[in-house]
Amino acid sequence: MPNALLTKLGIQLPIVQAPMAGTSTVALAAAVSNAGGLGSLGLANYNVDQAREQIQQLKQATSKPFNVNVFCHQPAIADAAREQEWLNILQPYFSEFSSQPPKQLSAGNPSFIGNKAMLEMLLEERPAVVSFHFGLPSTEFIQALKHAGITLLGCATNLPEAQAIEAAGLHAIIAQGYEAGGHRGVFDPAEDIKLGLFSLLQLLQKKCSLPIIAAGGIMHGQAIAQVMNMGASAAQMGTAFILCPESAASSAYRDQLKSARAYKTDVTALISGRPARGLVNRFHTELADKQRLLPAYPTTYSASKALIAAASQQDCYDFAAFWAGQSAPLARELPAAELVALLATEWKHESVYSF
Ligand SMILES: Cc1cc2nc3c(=O)[nH]c(=O)nc-3n(C[C@H](O)[C@H](O)[C@H](O)COP(=O)(O)O)c2cc1C
Repeated sequence: MPNALLTKLGIQLPIVQAPMAGTSTVALAAAVSNAGGLGSLGLANYNVDQAREQIQQLKQATSKPFNVNVFCHQPAIADAAREQEWLNILQPYFSEFSSQPPKQLSAGNPSFIGNKAMLEMLLEERPAVVSFHFGLPSTEFIQALKHAGITLLGCATNLPEAQAIEAAGLHAIIAQGYEAGGHRGVFDPAEDIKLGLFSLLQLLQKKCSLPIIAAGGIMHGQAIAQVMNMGASAAQMGTAFILCPESAASSAYRDQLKSARAYKTDVTALISGRPARGLVNRFHTELADKQRLLPAYPTTYSASKALIAAASQQDCYDFAAFWAGQSAPLARELPAAELVALLATEWKHESVYSF
């Protein structure tokens, strides 16, 4: 018998492929959904028209449920002096590549908070599932999505965030441990208490009543069985899917993930302006003392992206944002459908959870 969350999501396997803005693709999400898990699209880098196009393409590629993910960060407050100072700090790094920093930072794509055009698009397209990262939209937005029959997931990194997700009436909590690759879903980075998944899962399992999806460092079916034995209803995995041929990861990203570099990941806000875990690079090692000078997310990211591009044009990946979780060396290079089947076999073999 499937558990209540899987029934609600309309999927057979307790496997959620994490939304990964910039790395997840229509092909990846379709392969995972078609294999019985929940495929996800990260929409954070897309404007409304692009997001709609992605959803429509995914509908063509699968008739199964899928998840789309939006970022709910507090909109950035512009600070020209701070932003200029940050560009001055980065200037010597640009010079290494005979390049110049941008004249000014750009605001990036807007948050889902207050983004009525994105809401309208989601209400029209009606994906089966929508998930929120970095916080929650307004009650009005949540009610509208629920009214449209969309299942809603929210990411929590601590108990107050999980309680806010429950109070807002969402359907499940994604418990994201500190091991996780990519951006931390923490609502307010200043309040980040950096809980590992083991502690977070036990805490939420005791104190919350919504179903929990465990995320962070899960790479094998055995680990899916472990988190389910600890009370999770499913596992969300990102890093495990990066090496799938269907992902958008560049060949450099794949090579680095398969190299010794994968053994060292860390969280830094220095790349985008919000804490995120990736392979340790020169942002982590050379700019750590500049943390207090950082402009807001996502404006910081525009300068980093320009530096990463200038470096990569010269085949240098010392600054690249290769997001990955602590278990990165365990990523397997398999087509997504095969990976899901393997995860399912490992999980069923290991599971004491009565399915
Ligand atoms: C490359 C990458 C990009 C990510 N982008 C997003 C995103 O757009 N939205 C989101 O909710 N989570 C994102 N995450 C975080 C995942 O949802 C999830 O918490 C994480 O992958 C779990 O840890 P793991 O990578 O060790 O499996 C991303 C993770 C990775 C590795």
